[in-house]
Amino acid sequence: MSDPDPAKLAASRAAIELVRDGMRVGLGTGSTASVMVRELAAKVHAEGLTLRCAATSKATAELAESLGLRIESLDQIGWLDMTIDGADEVDPDLNLIKGGGGAHLREKIVAMASDRMVVVADPGKVVEQLGAFHLPVEVLAFGFESTRELICRALEDLDLGGRPINQRLREGKPVLTDEGNFILDLALEAIPDAPALARALTAIPGVVEHGLFLGICDLAIIGRADGSVVELR
Ligand code: A5P
Repeated sequence: MSDPDPAKLAASRAAIELVRDGMRVGLGTGSTASVMVRELAAKVHAEGLTLRCAATSKATAELAESLGLRIESLDQIGWLDMTIDGADEVDPDLNLIKGGGGAHLREKIVAMASDRMVVVADPGKVVEQLGAFHLPVEVLAFGFESTRELICRALEDLDLGGRPINQRLREGKPVLTDEGNFILDLALEAIPDAPALARALTAIPGVVEHGLFLGICDLAIIGRADGSVVELR
């Protein structure tokens, strides 16, 4: 593996300093979370820690296990002390957009089953207002086109009409989440009222989960290329 991005490494190292022996830890998904998982595995082996870990995706579970971390299901562990995960956007109130890697459903379940959610990110993720990053929405395959239409109408009601709603594809084929669902990416440009949008999306039956994480993150650790970090609380 090539050397990790120094900003992601700095954030990851600061985050895993919060991990103590015996903790129950949720492991996030994405490139930053992967750096964190590698650092955590190294710390566990170096310090002989015993942790109980749950993963937010199959990819993270595979990575963690390949590094010698034992992964249990969230239900086996029950509740977590802390989840450490990446984010696509972080606003000044620690509201997030997540799901660039398509894992936001499991990520939200795991984060909300944790006493504390810690985000690790590079400075490019910090924004004044959420929405430049396309908002991922996981939807059921059943009634997919109707769900897309209901999302379209909800956006119109919120004065966000006309914004592209794109199905996420890879090599021309629909991306499937770990739960076997589709993803729609909403190109909103800006989200002036994130709680209203979250409520509107949640009210649509075919929407499984959206990537707005509002009031869930407790601490964001922003790493910089020089190895320093800034903590947002
Ligand atoms: C995965 O679905 C996402 O929520 C990631 O946590 C998010 O996209 C951040 O990923 P990177 O660290 O790769 O930017």
